[in-house]
Amino acid sequence: MTIVGSKSMDKIMALAKRRGFIYQASEIYGGQSGFWDYGPLGAQLKKNLRDAWWEDMVLNPCGGEPGPNGEPVRIVPLDTSIIQHPRVWEASGHIAGFSDPMVDCRETKQRYRFDHLMLYVPVSGERNGKPLFAFMPDTASEQKQKKKAEKAFGEARAVPLSQLPHGEWSHVVAPDADKVGTLTEPRAFNLMFKTYVGATATEDDVAYLRPETAQGIFVQFKNVIDTTRVKVPFGIAQVGKAFRNEVTPRNFTFRSREFEQMEMEFFCHPDSAHDWYAFWRDQRMKWWRGLGLAGENLQLRVHERDELAHYAKEGAGTSDVEYRFPFTAPGFGELEGVAHRSNYDLAQHQKYSRVQLEYFDNERGELLPNGGHKGERYLPHVIEPAAGLDRGVLALLCEAYTEDPARASPELLLLNPRVAPIKAAVFPLVNKDGMPEISEKLYQDLRRRFWRRGMIEHDVKQAIGKRYARMDEAGCPYCITVDGESAASHSVTIRDRNTAQQTRVALDKVHEFLELNLFVT
Ligand code: GAP
Repeated sequence: MTIVGSKSMDKIMALAKRRGFIYQASEIYGGQSGFWDYGPLGAQLKKNLRDAWWEDMVLNPCGGEPGPNGEPVRIVPLDTSIIQHPRVWEASGHIAGFSDPMVDCRETKQRYRFDHLMLYVPVSGERNGKPLFAFMPDTASEQKQKKKAEKAFGEARAVPLSQLPHGEWSHVVAPDADKVGTLTEPRAFNLMFKTYVGATATEDDVAYLRPETAQGIFVQFKNVIDTTRVKVPFGIAQVGKAFRNEVTPRNFTFRSREFEQMEMEFFCHPDSAHDWYAFWRDQRMKWWRGLGLAGENLQLRVHERDELAHYAKEGAGTSDVEYRFPFTAPGFGELEGVAHRSNYDLAQHQKYSRVQLEYFDNERGELLPNGGHKGERYLPHVIEPAAGLDRGVLALLCEAYTEDPARASPELLLLNPRVAPIKAAVFPLVNKDGMPEISEKLYQDLRRRFWRRGMIEHDVKQAIGKRYARMDEAGCPYCITVDGESAASHSVTIRDRNTAQQTRVALDKVHEFLELNLFVT
């Protein structure tokens, strides 16, 4: 197969739409920037990736490979609320620096709350080439700008600046400026989505949609310790939605305002944090490689000291698993961060909640004459592998997208069978001569055997070439065709998506073929 060189994001997005992987949210209303919906194949692909993470993180961590302590890795799941007590975000540091969208004046260097700024506009609605006058209510600028506006328009009225159409911004004179058009675009300084809990919707009812799933884990650390039999070192894993009011959502789903995270907080003794950090960094690279992001498009990048997040300033550092997306090439974009967060979060929540979060480790501390230990009380350190599910799906789609000019329909997705939404498709070559009956029976049999692992399709319409092309674009690894020989020889052909080669297989061996080729890793 000849594969065409660099990948076009436009083509990948077009295929994602055409085959029902990803749609623009609220598309029939013109779309909503930064929000995306997953279509039937996308929802299944996303579920398969989420399930793969859950299986390899929670149910069978690291495929049974022992941790640096030589013992099996223990991880328990959690599912916490999207809306937490607002103090959670004070403790975590997300509210620090919180401010509403601001605009700057390039002439006077003054900064204003965008939602506070007002504007004098002509009562007639006709500006006639004259500027509009912005002011801050209850300041000297109010009277000064009013006088200028009345001189310019005769009669002027005040409206919020936020009502001004975007194209008119360049005609505004800022409150203390002389020149026109010196106000910058409003900029959000905090990415958290604000909401209100309860019916009164006052400032006392303000809450936030979580910007990360991690804090729910830290806040429930004590409950997990007290109600289960876990012992440090162990991890708590959670998958769920996170919300960030990104100023410039872009690059398809890469920077969205609503997205899903797959985060695991691994709690360990401070002395072993460096070992666990190295362990998780390597494990996470290996995991993404195992799903098909195997070549030079995947890299591990160690953060420079000055890039480290506030919670990772101390300790072993942070590494990002990065993928070379078509829109970042030749550079890379972050897929997952692996950070040593030290005990930053537990210490912060202990301080803000005034609840003791230290862990009592009865297997450490001074050795007693009876062979036991006196025990040691400490705040565990945390290693956090934090991955983006939507970015994962996007990376899988970009990696899988292939153009093979030798095929009548050249675009296909070489998705890894573990994540491919459709595992196999069954077709009668033609919709007559007893073929549909055999294919229907085979389809029902395969569905009964494999429904837990993914979709099995049955398609009787259109020319066979078109059906193959549709399945190639959907990333379906195998197409099984009942043909003219099937009734007599009790066999079918199985077409391999990657090579387009067909193999004849006995009807009663098809499930074994799929078992071996799809599910044995
Ligand atoms: N708890 C740590 C944390 O949230 P992060 O690097 O900000 O760290 C983790 O987020 C992962 O979430 C990123 O590696 C990325 O895959 C994903 N992510 C972050 N912001 C995103 C956005 N606006 N759109 C889509 N995915 C995003």
